[in-house]
Amino acid sequence: MNTKRKIVVTSALPYANGDIHIGHLVEYLQTDFWVRFQKMRGHDCLYICADDTHGTPIMLRARAENITPETLIARSLEQHAKDFADFQIAFDNYYSTNSEENRAFSNAIFASMQKSGAITVKQLPQLYCEHDAMFLPDRFVKGICPKCNAENQYGDACDACGQTYPAEELKQATCVTCGSTPVLRNSEHLFFELEPFRDFLKSWIPKHVATDVAHKLLEWFSEPLRGWCISRDAPYFGFEIPGHPGKFFYVWVDAPIGYLASLQKWCTDHKQELDAWWNNPEAELYHFIGKDIVRFHCLFWPAMLKVAGIKTPDQVFVHGFLTVNGEKMSKSKGTFVKARTYLDHLNPQDLRFYYACKLNGTTDDLDLSLDDFVHRVNSDLVGKITNLASRGAQMLHKSLGGKMGVMDAEGRALWKTACSRAESVATYYESRDFGKVMVEIRDLADAANQYFDTKAPWALVKTDLEAARQVMTSVLNIFRVLTIYLQPVLPVYAKRVGTLFNEEPYCWAALGKAIENQTINPYEYLATRVDPVAVEKMVESSKAVPVAQPVGATGRSSAMTVEPVKGTIDYDTFARMDLRVATVVSAELVEGADKLLKVMLDIGEPKPRQVFAGIRKAYDPAKLVGRQVVMVANLAPRKMKFGLSEGMILAAGNPDGALFVVSPDAGAIAGATVK
Ligand code: MSP
Ligand code: ZN
Repeated sequence: MNTKRKIVVTSALPYANGDIHIGHLVEYLQTDFWVRFQKMRGHDCLYICADDTHGTPIMLRARAENITPETLIARSLEQHAKDFADFQIAFDNYYSTNSEENRAFSNAIFASMQKSGAITVKQLPQLYCEHDAMFLPDRFVKGICPKCNAENQYGDACDACGQTYPAEELKQATCVTCGSTPVLRNSEHLFFELEPFRDFLKSWIPKHVATDVAHKLLEWFSEPLRGWCISRDAPYFGFEIPGHPGKFFYVWVDAPIGYLASLQKWCTDHKQELDAWWNNPEAELYHFIGKDIVRFHCLFWPAMLKVAGIKTPDQVFVHGFLTVNGEKMSKSKGTFVKARTYLDHLNPQDLRFYYACKLNGTTDDLDLSLDDFVHRVNSDLVGKITNLASRGAQMLHKSLGGKMGVMDAEGRALWKTACSRAESVATYYESRDFGKVMVEIRDLADAANQYFDTKAPWALVKTDLEAARQVMTSVLNIFRVLTIYLQPVLPVYAKRVGTLFNEEPYCWAALGKAIENQTINPYEYLATRVDPVAVEKMVESSKAVPVAQPVGATGRSSAMTVEPVKGTIDYDTFARMDLRVATVVSAELVEGADKLLKVMLDIGEPKPRQVFAGIRKAYDPAKLVGRQVVMVANLAPRKMKFGLSEGMILAAGNPDGALFVVSPDAGAIAGATVK
């Protein structure tokens, strides 16, 4: 075996404002396979990651939930860490980009950028929301597409015609959060100029990414490389730029620096030097990323590192996207499956196994065909591989006191063949061609099953106990080799196999050893078949908001069919809703809206809230005044044609459409919380 390597491996840092889903897992699982393989080979390898916590979406989501961004990102970190752990993904350090280490590195790298003269300052006109007192990122403006006039399009690109445009060109633009009309304002911004790095990047790129990825990247080089805007205006959740009050680093500046910061934290915790791991020409550094974020990792990032005199990655491994049943993950089809939802219904090791079968180290997209998933796990993992152990070990216990003997000649030959694949399996692992590893394992399992069936030990135990013992001993030894090959993909499974044979978690060197003349432990379950019904249930519970049942025929008020109760929510979700008792100050008809009433509500705030409620057909506005109702006080304000609606009134709705506003008993005061 080659000498001991020092390897740092990263996966992209998931955004803190979303849940981990099975698309993300394509990345975190393959990185985990690779790292576990390196560790098994005896190398010093660290798997480093973190949550990506900065940026406007996180700030706004925290606002909408009425919590601080710090609370929001702490909650995400906890959930992400739990999801990853439950999928048997083992990070050496999982950190947050909102850390002091990250701030320090960001400031230092920025100082180097400035020193090198690569930072320029430009005035940019940008959409600004006076109501929210903030510059609006592209995704926070909606309006009419300037190219095709489609309504309701975001500020960067039109879903209807696919064209892109600057946000300022949107017609009738409105702010997504408050609905008001933004204005154009000039703001000063910092740019990281890339043109000075043209030659460096042009030679760096082909050496550090796969050829197809390099080709795409080099297309940018036919024109001058455009400077990259690295600043954002306050309010922004992130790091303020030194010397530029009110300006913050764009989230994509401090995100990759988060790799360094997370590694630094590991080094501090383990009393090691960062430079031994990162800046060491003898050490290796690899980033696993999806194809959507190549530009950040292969243009900006190497330039940032270069200017700061820090080592650039040895390779950036780019993978494709997950499709489910041949299509993009879809919320309406129930194929946008969160990691947690998967775990609620299925076994994590089955997805690990399936992804390993499908990954080949290229940029190709990977399809999770749900039927194929059930088939592969049931036929290969359970039917072929695990079957060797369950048949072999159980029969050994039942008829032969659990004692292994020696292998017979044929069995030993098969075992040797299995062992002889070690280097090709290792080469496949090294090149991230996990699919080939799995084919190798399946073929070896096929041969072993064939041997088992030909020898028919279930008949042999009746005539020649020792011959039967030899067959079982051979099959179990071959199975043990397959398990060692599988361990990076199925660590928990391999650990149970280790227990069966009284062994520690396997390292690659465990391959040469044969287990003979030794008693094995009781057989513990290793893998069970996937129930297709569980897959269906998972898809069902991933579907966006269940569709209400059609309302029964009217006029049968005594036997109306009510809507089915929606899926459960946890207490925290419920607790985020702020319900208040409100006194109706005034209520009036709304011109041009035959369903709405404009209601002003007192909830003890200095100014009454304006709410447009769809209760006109049920209530005479005059009769509402002075009455107490219950409102959702922290619903994000919504811009309507008639004005801003700042909350919602609760009302019961019968299936036939009759409406009943909800009121507290006498004695509640305006502004009282409702729980
Ligand atoms: N926060 C950035 C990365 C910063 S790295 C310094 C980000 N986050 S993400 O949560 O959107 O994505 C994290 C990783 O998951 C990315 O590498 C992305 O490509 C990958 N995937 C997200 N959805 C995916 C699929 N549907 N399929 C495969 N990989 C996917 O980008
Ligand atoms: Zn606004």
